[in-house]
Amino acid sequence: MGNQALEILHWLSEMGDDLALSDTPIDRFAESAAARQASASRSAPGKEKPARPDLEQRAAAVRRHLNQHNQAPAGRPGIGGASATLPDAEAIASARELAAKADTLEALRDALAAFNGCNLKLTAKNLVFADGNPQARIMLVGEAPGRDEDIQGLPFVGRSGQLLDRMLAAIGLDRTKVYITNVLPWRPPGNRTPTPAEVEICRPFIERHIELVAPDLLVAVGGSSAKMLFETTTGILSLRGHWRKYKVGEREVDALATLHPAYLLRQPAQKRLAWHDLLQIRAKLDAADPG
Ligand code: URA
Repeated sequence: MGNQALEILHWLSEMGDDLALSDTPIDRFAESAAARQASASRSAPGKEKPARPDLEQRAAAVRRHLNQHNQAPAGRPGIGGASATLPDAEAIASARELAAKADTLEALRDALAAFNGCNLKLTAKNLVFADGNPQARIMLVGEAPGRDEDIQGLPFVGRSGQLLDRMLAAIGLDRTKVYITNVLPWRPPGNRTPTPAEVEICRPFIERHIELVAPDLLVAVGGSSAKMLFETTTGILSLRGHWRKYKVGEREVDALATLHPAYLLRQPAQKRLAWHDLLQIRAKLDAADPG
């Protein structure tokens, strides 16, 4: 392979595009050239039009959609889309039933491992369940595993995880003193944004996860996690830094949203806001247990 091709592959991988979604490569340039040619010959006088151009267009749109959204191929478990065998409502019902039955963290991990209702599982290498101390008073919930987390099967171990560790260390915490998980236990391919259906299908598991850990403080790390846990569409810059109550079974716990370390890596000037949130977390821990 030439140097240029290797450089392109390296760049794609850096961008998070490190996953082959199909065994056969698709040459999009050839496709668009063929489409241009077909359209030119259709508009040329005397040429016959294809029998059903509408069907051809729809088929191409469905192929593009499946390719972009990485839907499960027909006959395999998946959600949404024409080819999925388990519709979203059934997947959510099954997730609720499995999550409710799990009465320990081990049982919940096993239930997730056995669950086939979320198509993210099809492309993920590993289930990323949790890390840290399940007895900790504080539980952090991120969005979804990235590439490094998918490889290692642990949350927040890549670049943003390293920054998260430094942020925690700044207020005297480490992974023996916190418990960390994500809303989604499988990596979305190429780190794409999870679909609303994927989030809703996984919701019963993360809600049960929080119930089983029963922390005193809950921290939503990043906008996606905060929106999902607090069931709001408000943006993270307005949500962050304000304590609210989060219902865990019969209890209510103090919950806070903060900025995602991946965002802070892109926008280092915002670290001052994150520092403000960290100080609030430290103060809340100290107030409840002055030591
Ligand atoms: N980002 C997240 O939200 N979670 C991880 O585990 C890693 C990166």
